[in-house]
Amino acid sequence: ARPNVGIVGATGLVGGMMLSLLAERDFPLGSLRLFASARSAGNRVPFREGEVVVEDAATADYAGLDVVFFSAGGSTSRALAPKVAAAGAIVIDNSSAWRADPEVPLVVAEVNPEALRNIPKGIVANPNCTTMAAMPVLKPLHAAAGLKRLVASTYQAVSGGGMEGVEVLRKQIAAGAADCAALAMNGDAVDLGQPEKWAVPIGFNVVPLNYVLEEDGYTEEELKLRDESRKILDLPALTVSATCVRVPVFTGHALSINAEFDRAISVEAALALLGVAPGVVVTEVPNPLDATGKDPVFVGRVRRDPTVEHGLVLFVAGDNLRKGAALNAVQIAEVLLAQK
Ligand code: A2P
Repeated sequence: ARPNVGIVGATGLVGGMMLSLLAERDFPLGSLRLFASARSAGNRVPFREGEVVVEDAATADYAGLDVVFFSAGGSTSRALAPKVAAAGAIVIDNSSAWRADPEVPLVVAEVNPEALRNIPKGIVANPNCTTMAAMPVLKPLHAAAGLKRLVASTYQAVSGGGMEGVEVLRKQIAAGAADCAALAMNGDAVDLGQPEKWAVPIGFNVVPLNYVLEEDGYTEEELKLRDESRKILDLPALTVSATCVRVPVFTGHALSINAEFDRAISVEAALALLGVAPGVVVTEVPNPLDATGKDPVFVGRVRRDPTVEHGLVLFVAGDNLRKGAALNAVQIAEVLLAQK
């Protein structure tokens, strides 16, 4: 039977992308229900030939749903996911709320689908958008040579911060566009308005502090890359040092990765493995603009890391709203359906 599907956070950027992907991929829908905050309840959202009326997520009755995607922030997921799972649905959650829970599989569809065999809480977690871009690339290299250590710097797009992030960058670019060349001499030359969402302006700038500092001076985002990589690759001892940076790009997260392995792996061998890796495309200059609107993650600039015995350096770019969020969630649902 075709599953009855719900989306909590359907009016957001990732929720909207889920809607597009369900249509684009001809996902076999029984029915579709959409949920958001009380602010959006009653709004009509176009889908295929018709429209769906948005329901208030807090008060809705979730009975009868088979799969419910969540992309409405961590607190909404913490509060509602167990209730929706108890009503009989499998929850596929895009927030960070459940990712560290040992009873919640954390799944990249082409990397560790076997983790979906056991879903004790009825909740599956979708990884962080930055971690997601790296996993399809690192998995085949790990299988060949044993991944030991990662050093990564990220170049993350503002849409990872939802519609608000997109609006903050748009406003700052609009405020500065006419006179921006003056910024070549003086960082105060253009009034970009008060910094919003990030500590310093994101327009014409980069922000090497993604929200909050936690353990040992690393940010939450940097620790996610460590902890989620360990869980997805089943490598609890993997050492990771990441620097997560927000850049003035609308969509498309990129990472520079130095990966150290237990065993030798040549550049040629790595390129051959990446050339056939599912969800991966090898390209000369991976970049966010080219990746935006596309499903695979792009990898290139593969070369030897001469600072360690068995090391590679590579550059990855992927659409943070597609593979980084909505696409992987839909792919998880597709794997679950195929298992039935
Ligand atoms: P709403 O549009 O009603 O605020 P984005 O990350 O792109 O900003 O999207 C956030 C999504 O999460 C939106 O669909 C938003 O709905 C939804 N959302 C935010 N807070 C809540 C909440 N407390 N309950 C349900 N949905 C929420």
